[in-house]
Amino acid sequence: MQKVGVIPGDGIGPEVVAEARRVLEKVIELRNLELEFEEFPLGAGHYLKTGEVLTEETLQRLSRKDALLLGAMGDPRVKPGILEKGVLLRLRFHFDQYVNLRPVRLYEGVPSPLSGSNRKIDMLFVRENTEDFYVGLGGRVKGGLSNSSLKLTRRAFEAKFDVGIDLKDEEELAFQIGVISKHGARRVMDFAFQLAKKNGIQLVTSVDKANVLTDMYGLWREACEEASAKYGVAKEFLYVDAVSLHMVRNPERFGLLVAPNLFGDILTDLGAALQGGLGLAPSGNINPAGVSMFEPVHGSAPDIAGKGMANPLGAILSSAMMLETLGHVPAAQDIEEAVKRVLKSGKHMTADMGGKTTTSKMTDEVLAELAPR
Ligand code: NAI
Ligand code: MG
Repeated sequence: MQKVGVIPGDGIGPEVVAEARRVLEKVIELRNLELEFEEFPLGAGHYLKTGEVLTEETLQRLSRKDALLLGAMGDPRVKPGILEKGVLLRLRFHFDQYVNLRPVRLYEGVPSPLSGSNRKIDMLFVRENTEDFYVGLGGRVKGGLSNSSLKLTRRAFEAKFDVGIDLKDEEELAFQIGVISKHGARRVMDFAFQLAKKNGIQLVTSVDKANVLTDMYGLWREACEEASAKYGVAKEFLYVDAVSLHMVRNPERFGLLVAPNLFGDILTDLGAALQGGLGLAPSGNINPAGVSMFEPVHGSAPDIAGKGMANPLGAILSSAMMLETLGHVPAAQDIEEAVKRVLKSGKHMTADMGGKTTTSKMTDEVLAELAPR
């Protein structure tokens, strides 16, 4: 029996997670899977009632799960960051989910923002999820001299940066330090090239800005070269600016892209736009040797919460990614194929896609397509 921890969260999180669970229950029945769910009521409600964001004890319980399914975090009643950082970032860090996996697929029937119909957009983004400019090293200095030291503590290393700033005639200065470790780059490259090999993708595109940020992305490139040789899959290096241009002009050229944290963050939102919007985009925060967490890319959307308007497909497709990672490839394909058929019919679109279909009706359509015929 595999165990899934479910964290519905805030806003439309619980709505879309409930829909994803309806779909999961159905494939579990159809495919005779052994999966067991336990809900964890984290988020604004829990925080406002108890003052707790995420306790050690809850982390312990979550660590005994085989995978986690999350809705969204964030609520207007709570100061921004408390829940997002306190739950989401904490979980990603605690479980060392070093890959953010985001498939960008434009399904037939979904209105594309790109000109030309029937664009074949099908790319996998492997975003590094723990390093780069997101390690939290930085500071602001105002007036005169400042000496400080910044520390980054990781399992494998401890880095201390001594910073001395003399502002002279300058009013204020802000800085941020990015870090990429060999181990950090290698493990995300291993994941990317293994996935390319598994999916029969011939070319891995590595994203960086090695012409300007030569040290960090020089190391990134070396790790990519190593992995390319190790797995016998070809690679190309493209600068992030060129990738953005190609994603709009010629997205068909990409199969799998591996990107450092910051560029990956930005490009994957561009990807979400290309695939028809946030409501459709799924993601996984993955630690191949640990507990991975799957969630729709969108947030808690307080503006539409409780109105039955949320698109449940991002959450439903995230649960398919979860099944795939848990080893249930046919069941995952069942879900994706059902979603594809619903979209292809062109009859059912939620408000974000320009239609009138409600959240639960959309799921009903997916369920109907899942039924054996
Ligand atoms: P958001 O993704 O919640 O919403 C952006 C816009 O997209 C809104 O107009 C919303 O109505 C629409 N939208 C989002 N998901 C939709 C869906 N499934 N169906 C139809 N329309 C949808 O981002 P926003 O507004 O910037 O943030 C709201 C809250 O969510 C904040 O507290 C933010 O911190 C949090 N957030 C949480 C994330 C997570 O849990 N992973 C990710 C992004 C934001
Ligand atoms: Mg983002």
